[in-house]
Amino acid sequence: MSVKAELQATITAMVQPGRGILAADESLPTIAKRFKPIGVESTEASRRAYRSLMFTTPEIDKYISGVILFEETLEQRADDGTPLPEVLSRQNIVPGIKVDKGKIPLAHSPGDEITQGLDGLAERLRVYKGQGARFAKWREVYAISTVNPTQLGMDANAEMLARYAAVCQEEGFVPIVEPEVLIDGEHSLVRCLEVTEAVLHAVFQALYRHKVMLEYMILKPNMVLPGKLHPSKATPEQIAEATIKVLRRTVPAAVPSINFLSGGLSPTEATANLSAMNALFPGQPWALSFSYGRALQEPVLQAWSGRAENVLVAQQALHQRAKLNGFARYGTYQPEMEKAG
Ligand code: 13P
Repeated sequence: MSVKAELQATITAMVQPGRGILAADESLPTIAKRFKPIGVESTEASRRAYRSLMFTTPEIDKYISGVILFEETLEQRADDGTPLPEVLSRQNIVPGIKVDKGKIPLAHSPGDEITQGLDGLAERLRVYKGQGARFAKWREVYAISTVNPTQLGMDANAEMLARYAAVCQEEGFVPIVEPEVLIDGEHSLVRCLEVTEAVLHAVFQALYRHKVMLEYMILKPNMVLPGKLHPSKATPEQIAEATIKVLRRTVPAAVPSINFLSGGLSPTEATANLSAMNALFPGQPWALSFSYGRALQEPVLQAWSGRAENVLVAQQALHQRAKLNGFARYGTYQPEMEKAG
């Protein structure tokens, strides 16, 4: 198969009506942080048990077309001995892999950060492909302050995302390009809109410079909303309007799908916002979908609490959350559906 045919097959499998992506790629420090409130120690065994639980949830394939994994998970097995990536691919869920190595401060640019992990990326991707991964994810992070992100910060981060995406495509991996403007801070929705617009412009300029084929990538952006500490909240309708406005200005129609991150939104907020976009602004050039980590997993962690006897209720919690996000893909989610569970 040619590289383009390989990339197209992966995109076709990932971008489907009513389905989206589960981000289960928490690094070791992050998963420890997620386990702590439910009293679970993060060990190789507890991480395997938790992720097996999610991936073996009955009928989860109805709503999930791809799962982003952490490196360790590629080598782990379900209780019956099946490698976890294969547990997914047998259900027509595409396994993917987070390939960035986390962020450090950007030199000479206080308040900006930059992500590491480009060295040896092509070689790593070849190993991951042997383990079943077909797409990759790389996240750059932008904090909003009165002076950040700077133009230097935006340009440097865009360059990283584009170089990563180009390497992925050469190796036959669909890149998920994730520029995350953080929700932290007191900033207004308008400020988030301005920053997100500038960030996405820089990203797509860099993708063009590096000849990234837009048809074979997925964008994973933040939604446009006020900072967590801003005095007033925005409605799903206001968030949908601002987010679609920015995306229409910046994301070429060749991009097949935009899969939002949840970024600290509650599960119900993340679902309601996505549904509002699809309900109020149908017919966009790209699919509008989800690639949620916390917004899909919070209820699962709560229900599980590290106990084997809770596996079934935890799976029901994941199924319910994924199903509601499936409705949001069509713009037909209603808050009353939360009770029907
Ligand atoms: P959240 O949805 O929890 O923001 O996680 C998505 C993700 O993959 C962050 O890189």
